[in-house]
Amino acid sequence: MMAFVRNTWYAAAWSEEVNRSLFSRKLLNEQVLMYRKEDGTPCAIRDLCPHRFAPLSIGKLIGDEVECLYHGLRFDCSGKCVDNPNGAGSIPKAASVKSYPLSEQYGVVWIWMGDPEKADESLVPAFPWLSDSENYTQVHGTLNIEANYLLVMDNLTDLSHAAFIHVETLEPRELAKATFEVVEEGPEVWTKQWCAAMTVPPLFTVVKGFTGQMDHWLEMRCIPRSTSMITFYGVTEVGKSRAEGYGTYNPNIITPETDTTTHYFWGSARDFDLKDEEMSEKFRMGASFAFTHEDKPIIEAQQRNVGDVDMMSLKPVLLTNDAGSVRARRAIDRLIAEEQEQAANLIAVG
Ligand code: FES
Ligand SMILES: [Fe+2]
Repeated sequence: MMAFVRNTWYAAAWSEEVNRSLFSRKLLNEQVLMYRKEDGTPCAIRDLCPHRFAPLSIGKLIGDEVECLYHGLRFDCSGKCVDNPNGAGSIPKAASVKSYPLSEQYGVVWIWMGDPEKADESLVPAFPWLSDSENYTQVHGTLNIEANYLLVMDNLTDLSHAAFIHVETLEPRELAKATFEVVEEGPEVWTKQWCAAMTVPPLFTVVKGFTGQMDHWLEMRCIPRSTSMITFYGVTEVGKSRAEGYGTYNPNIITPETDTTTHYFWGSARDFDLKDEEMSEKFRMGASFAFTHEDKPIIEAQQRNVGDVDMMSLKPVLLTNDAGSVRARRAIDRLIAEEQEQAANLIAVG
């Protein structure tokens, strides 16, 4: 089975997906049950009754507790069994379920799948564009992709694919000729492109009616530890500054579901025409169409060709465009190796 970075915050759900019903989602090969307590706090426990391994999500939510459908064991949100309605009602010591630290920020419920002792809320990656409605208007959605999360991450960290895959929707083909730089800033990998006087990207023709040529920026900021990225792109009149232009801020947050499937939480925020709901709809349709009908099919087809192995072991040909993806993959490899080393040391000491 594939190793994942475990001591980090992953997006588990959008805030509105977690409510007073039992919501189950697989994350890093573990089925996780989420719900909100009566006071509104979200909580997460393993969706697996320790008695006969029935999914708790088909049971009942009673107050802040979950009752298993099969024989009525009841668990609180710390995963502790608090009631056994059978016979004398004694509760076996082992009758508990794993619970996971959560942190709800920026309209996202983040989950810590690793050592709960290490869950530090200050490590939740910042996505102010999703929650600062004074300065931005955002739309968002979720997509499941039948491919390993690293293939999804490769796709997002590589700006060059847009000139081909998204030529009808997001970027003109001439983008492929533009130079870009890749820089590592602390734990982040940035890929940056500034295209002077380029054909207006199709999305800006759809949402603003712009045509002809404009200056265009396109940047991808990748935070490997959080398997998340933010794409910044926008246009401004030729020769004008970025501040005078139209900017979009697009969080791409991915969470491994299994070794070969991935949850993709996408957002699209803008800093102009904040009250224009029709425009929001155009952004929603545009992003959702591009991800579902352009990115998803090619990434899934790649996965089918690559099979069960790590793509890098197949010695892929590398292009200059791959610089960002290669660095993000290396950072993830390092983090996984660090965690495995720590685990090995613990065993040696113990
Ligand atoms: S399987 Fe849950 S109580 Fe028996
Ligand atoms: Fe794409």
